[in-house]
Parts: sequence; structure tokens; C-alpha cells
Amino acid sequence: MDRNNSMAILKIAKMGHPILRKKAKKVKDPSSKDVKLVVRDMLETLEDLGGNGIGIAAPQVHVSLQIIIFEVRVEDSEIANNIPLTVLINPKIKILTKKTNTDWEGCLSVPGLRGRVKRPNKIKYSGFDLNGNKIETIAEGFHARVVQHEFDHLIGILYPQRMEDITSLQFVSEARHTTES
Ligand code: NI
Repeated sequence: MDRNNSMAILKIAKMGHPILRKKAKKVKDPSSKDVKLVVRDMLETLEDLGGNGIGIAAPQVHVSLQIIIFEVRVEDSEIANNIPLTVLINPKIKILTKKTNTDWEGCLSVPGLRGRVKRPNKIKYSGFDLNGNKIETIAEGFHARVVQHEFDHLIGILYPQRMEDITSLQFVSEARHTTES
């Protein structure tokens, strides 16, 4: 297979690294070669993690740019629909409802842990793809949650900061001891 040997699996920044608290910079040209290279490495990094990640944001690979990637597969949540792999550059989010739901979240930058986070049910998100075309989508439920989680990485927020009740923060490996499903 003719693989470009400059492809790279990148190191994931973990909670405590200052880049995760920074506001990411806007991408000047979403269709530029530099952006394609960053996205290619983000995809390869996500793939290398063996399907554990359903999304990744550029600051998580030490690149402080407004780029997020996500994919939602049915097995990721009982209530989810499939969302094809999406690369979203310079995203904006508009909350469309006051209704919220609370569900578990995990994060590649907070390995081994999960916590319950309340999020708005329905959002509209917009941004640009790798060809510089505008994306605009209405998302609900799990899809909306994933996009909000990844978007938060671009404004320096990790999900534990969104938790209303920190007592649900737990190691996934210990979750069998809880009564909650
Ligand atoms: Ni995350």
C-alpha cells in the first residue's frame, strides 16, 4: 500500500496540560494543505485508539486550532442515529431548546474516567469542511452531545467542568460497583 510516511499518530494532551484550557485559534483557510495534514493526523490518531474515541478536537493533539472531528455509530448509544465522519472547522453552536438531558461522557484527555453531564437536547451547528464548503446541521440527543463536547475543547473546557454533581465522576473500571446502569 502506498502510504505517505509522513502520517503520524499524535500524542493526546491530558487534563492539566495548558493547551486544553486555551481558546483555539480560528482557521484562516479551511481548504489549505496545512489543515488537511492536521486532520489526516487527527483521523489516524483517532483510528489508532481502536474506536474508543467518537470525537477529537485539535487542541487534544496539541494544535490550538478550531478543528473538530466526530462520528456517531449506532452502537455508541441506544438513542443515537448514525452520523457519518464529520470534519468541522471554525464551528459555531446555537442552542435551540431549553430542554436538557443528562448522560455519561468520557474524554480521551481524561482517560479511564466518565461523568454525567447535562446538555441541551437540540442545537444547530455550523462551520466549514475541508473544501471550504459551509456545513449547517441541526442535531439532537447524542449527536448534539458529541458536538457540544468537542466544541467545548475549542473554548478550553473539559467535561468535568460541566458536571453539576461531581460525585458521578468515576473510573469506568469501577463502574460495576455502582447501582446505576
Ligand atoms: Ni473530549
